[in-house]
Amino acid sequence: MRMWGGRFSGETDPRAADFTRSLEVDRALALDDLAASVAHVRGLERAGLLDADEASSLIVGLDVLRGEIEAGMFAWDPALEDVHLNLEAALAARIGPLAGRLHTGRSRNDQVATDLRLWTRRACAAADDALVGFERALVGLAERYRGAVMPGMTHVQPAQPVLLAHHLLAYVEMAERDRDRFADARRRADSSPLGSGALAGAGFPIDRRAVAAELGFAGVTANSIDAVSDRDFVVDYIASAALAMVHLSRLAEELVWWSNPAFGWVVLADAFATGSSMMPNKKNPDPAELVRARAARVAGALATLLGVLKGLPLAYQRDLQEDKAPLFDAASVLEGSLAVMAGLLETLEVRSERMRAAARGGFVTATALADALVRRGVAFRGAHGIVGGWVGAAEAAGVGLEALPGESYLAGLAASDDAAARVLAVDGTRDGGGLLEALRAAADLDGALATCDVEGGTAPGRVATALATARQRLG
Ligand code: ARG
Repeated sequence: MRMWGGRFSGETDPRAADFTRSLEVDRALALDDLAASVAHVRGLERAGLLDADEASSLIVGLDVLRGEIEAGMFAWDPALEDVHLNLEAALAARIGPLAGRLHTGRSRNDQVATDLRLWTRRACAAADDALVGFERALVGLAERYRGAVMPGMTHVQPAQPVLLAHHLLAYVEMAERDRDRFADARRRADSSPLGSGALAGAGFPIDRRAVAAELGFAGVTANSIDAVSDRDFVVDYIASAALAMVHLSRLAEELVWWSNPAFGWVVLADAFATGSSMMPNKKNPDPAELVRARAARVAGALATLLGVLKGLPLAYQRDLQEDKAPLFDAASVLEGSLAVMAGLLETLEVRSERMRAAARGGFVTATALADALVRRGVAFRGAHGIVGGWVGAAEAAGVGLEALPGESYLAGLAASDDAAARVLAVDGTRDGGGLLEALRAAADLDGALATCDVEGGTAPGRVATALATARQRLG
């Protein structure tokens, strides 16, 4: 006998039944569905549609089902297409015909929208927890290697020296924005559709606000047609997850490179690396690589859902059933990726000396040197040209900028078309080294770092403050 089949004379074709069944996916909503049913029963009781005995029998029955599901003992029946029908049939089997009153003033359309909002609200909170865990790992690593200097890069070429802590704190900023987006997604999921019925609103005077309050919703949806067809809150969640995964993927990419022995900046713990089936020498950063790849999966989930929603007429359409697989997959990928990246960072060893040596190799203090000339009156464009010449000379001599002989510095200044630079060349020759000392200090990694002393800059004092702020926020 098919459920809700009063008007039908035959059975569903097995191909249609298999094709439309969503049970394997939406059983994840079972506990939310039961909680929503309990709140709905109370709403029906308050509206005088159930007496106190009926309401309590229904609630006891729903509670029995909850116990079975929590214990993993519930016998799911694949002949019933989804979680809602399974639970309703199981309730009828436990408490008899009274179960038939549960669906008064309710449709699976407002029911599934309610369940999914409850699920998404919780997923937003879980994402927040996982992001906090990831931030803790970033901050912990930054604290362990407070003094580590690396060549900050643009175009993957050495650019300017930065503290590793500053680089890691950049990811903390991204994670903070992600948390903000999830908080926003949670806020928008936080309205109860119950009482919207199939699309027009329940045909009974249900106190929707009281039902919503029982489920901990902040309020109720304002339009019944929108309530049963709105999945914007799912888009909000997946979009937030997709961007968080993009952030993780960027870090994963960096760690893949940094752990290559040619860089040798970091060593992954054995616990977060894998071997090769053929090459005994291999130590591969597979978890990081998979985070990188799974970012694509979540971006795909976002494209899937937007594609499903695009062009759907109001109100509920069965297409909406296809929202759950991408949502659930995005959530499990995100939470798993945050957890594995946190573990990877917690156990990561940084080779500070190798990092510093790489910074020393890249003439990364050139900008600080140009700035030092500007502080002595040279126009920045002139300074840029002069320091460019010094870089060329240092490269030809096979030394760092800090080791360039004094004559090379002075020759560069003297040959400049900037008048202030030519005056400096004369002063430098006369003052017996004051100028040269200042230039060498700017050419030194620590000297260069210290000059980026603005809010948000990499000067060690600024980074220490930023690190303390991040630590305090995480508690
Ligand atoms: N499994 C369905 C879904 O997830 C439940 C709602 C079905 N409603 C309907 N009118 N067929 O969307």
